[in-house]
Amino acid sequence: METNKGFSPVKVAGRLASICILSLHVVFLAVPDALADSASKAQRLFNRLAGYPLPLNDPRRSQMQSLIEQGRVLDAARIASQDDNFLNLTVRQFAAPMSNRAESPRVPLNDFIAMFIGTTRDNRDARELLSGNYLYIGNSNDPSFRSSCTSPSCSYSPSPMATQAHFTAIDRTNLAKHLLRIQPQRPDISDAAGVLTSYAWAESFFSAGTNRRATAYALQEFLCTSIQEMADTTLSDYRVRRDVDRAPGGDANTYQTECRGCHTGMDGLSGAWAHFDYNPDNRILQSAGIRGKMNQNNAVFPGGHITVDNSWVNLFTRNQNAALQWRGSMTGRGVSEFGTMLANSGAFSKCMAKRAFFRICHREPESSEAALINGLKEKFEASGYKLRALLEETATLPVCLGE
Ligand code: HEC
Repeated sequence: METNKGFSPVKVAGRLASICILSLHVVFLAVPDALADSASKAQRLFNRLAGYPLPLNDPRRSQMQSLIEQGRVLDAARIASQDDNFLNLTVRQFAAPMSNRAESPRVPLNDFIAMFIGTTRDNRDARELLSGNYLYIGNSNDPSFRSSCTSPSCSYSPSPMATQAHFTAIDRTNLAKHLLRIQPQRPDISDAAGVLTSYAWAESFFSAGTNRRATAYALQEFLCTSIQEMADTTLSDYRVRRDVDRAPGGDANTYQTECRGCHTGMDGLSGAWAHFDYNPDNRILQSAGIRGKMNQNNAVFPGGHITVDNSWVNLFTRNQNAALQWRGSMTGRGVSEFGTMLANSGAFSKCMAKRAFFRICHREPESSEAALINGLKEKFEASGYKLRALLEETATLPVCLGE
């Protein structure tokens, strides 16, 4: 519309700028302009971190605005991230897509998401999300707690039905205030590994199959790399299991040029899950023995790798995968050690930075913004892997604040 065009802030700013160059009125014109600018920055900063617009009469508005005017944008961001909805909305939406197969941000509260919210609130090292033996549950002393079951045993239950009922009951309560950290994660699990042994994760990635899906998704969700991108046909295939045909359709070349690319590395890592399964009928999550699915269809290639324990080896370390910046031991046993290896990689920090950018700035970073993502990654690690600090830093990026 014509009238709108006439009021375009860009044009007005442009006109003011040209007047400024020509006149001493520069001082008087620049001040209200800067105020308007810091006001809109405060508004945007709050909205991005807390997930809702800052009310007009809210005292935090002028506090944030004056900090921005002093160039203390990060301090302004810290005011916004103190709002409960930073955890209840923003961190929840940051975590939710990683918790389910469809990668949807709109899923009911589950134990995976609660762990992200609690870990962020308590300013803990985010690497423990992939290796720690703990859980966050509703606090029965919370007046808004709605669960019929008020003891931690409700979420300890070996039945995912009871666990899910617990998280459904506390959904939409003020989790920022009332989540309670408990440990161990569950008495029936000795190899707890943060969200990697949550019910939400187990339901999505342990059910049926051969536990390879858990590996593929762990790499995708926490390193932001797909198994296709990692595929490397130059690696030794000594870990490829017996169910993988070495000559699919009678063609050994297909195995050499396609199948083994993914299966060398993926099968080498998947031993981590050897004791885990998820079955909606008997609902067992971890057992003492090796799950049958780890060695199923063993007649396809009897000379293949036999899973005898939960040891794993990371072969995806060379060629294109060297860029993932692996650190620490490339072999181990079980899920917690596997999660530790993932979380210590540079790719984990970078992946969290990319996810923070998407959540806070509402778009994927451009390839030209790689240096920005790298900067966030470095700051995230320097902060001691604090997700709160990462999200705050992200919100202060000029490309995110709209400068
Ligand atoms: C792009 C990577 C990739 C390639 C290439 C690939 N696979 Fe897989 N394969 C996977 C993943 C991931 C899974 C786990 C899928 C799941 O459980 O959801 C899997 C699972 C399997 C399974 C177990 C299926 C089951 O659940 O019972 C077999 C067998 C298998 N692949 C054989 C092959 C063969 C043979 C080839 C070559 C024709 C091949 N794969 C090529 C990634 C790959």
